[in-house]
Amino acid sequence: MGGGERNAGNDIVLETSGLRKSFGALRAVDDVSMSVRDSMITLIIGPNGSGKTTLINTIAGVYKPDSGKVKFRGIDITGWPPYKINELGLVRTFQIPQPFTKLTVIENLLISSRDIDRVSISKNLLRKWIEKESSLVKEAFNILKFLNLDKVWDHYAYELSGGQLKLLELGRALINKAKLIIMDEPIAGVAPTLAHSILGFMRKAITEYNVTFLIIEHRLDIALKYVDFVYAMHRGRIISSGVPDEVIKDPKVIESYLGEEIKK
Ligand SMILES: Nc1ncnc2c1ncn2[C@@H]1O[C@H](COP(=O)(O)OP(=O)(O)O)[C@@H](O)[C@H]1O
Ligand SMILES: [Mg+2]
Repeated sequence: MGGGERNAGNDIVLETSGLRKSFGALRAVDDVSMSVRDSMITLIIGPNGSGKTTLINTIAGVYKPDSGKVKFRGIDITGWPPYKINELGLVRTFQIPQPFTKLTVIENLLISSRDIDRVSISKNLLRKWIEKESSLVKEAFNILKFLNLDKVWDHYAYELSGGQLKLLELGRALINKAKLIIMDEPIAGVAPTLAHSILGFMRKAITEYNVTFLIIEHRLDIALKYVDFVYAMHRGRIISSGVPDEVIKDPKVIESYLGEEIKK
């Protein structure tokens, strides 16, 4: 889809400046300054170990940066705990945790809603509660319909395919009223057809749910067709950025990343 120019004037939703995070002597994220624009899909690429996951974890508050700043919707969120960042609308999706796979698809959405009193949830309570709160259930069903998961609404999450679980992760972010959704390898291990539809749903979510995406992905053959802007990392640093066509032609990127792919 590309279309970076189309969105070039969009507001900056997320901005990091001089972000650093080390593990002992290893500089996993080394002076990273980057930005994510509204209503776009921004992609981070780079070889294994280049610091991509550490970068998004540092942005989302999973790690505190050693130095540098993270600004989200104009607010300095550096060092904030994840739940507070989440409340501002930045949602970093994680694989559905194991206890949640024993809940149904719709229960997974309801339990993720920020409107629910998390303290009082147990499986049985949730079932009773669902009967009462029809407006939230309606909202959850709309999201399931949007993601083509409505037919499996009452299936246990452990019955879903890998691709459907990824969609459920996206659904949980949507019911959470995310403004920016950060996903680590949303199409890893997913069959090509479903991989295309996951990225297609993400593009549709931009207009239908007014969200923005920051994703990490290795499957460039598929992902590059759907993203607007790319950052390439190598050894903790951003070595290239721009629209997809520019970045994959950058000799530095070919050398560090695509070169390694070709050698495999
Ligand atoms: N929790 C951790 N403790 C120690 N080292 C880590 C930790 N997480 C990541 N690393 C190291 O930091 C570097 C970057 O890792 P990571 O961010 O996972 O890279 P990527 O996601 O690009 O594959 C790697 O060398 C990795 O081994
Ligand atoms: Mg990673």
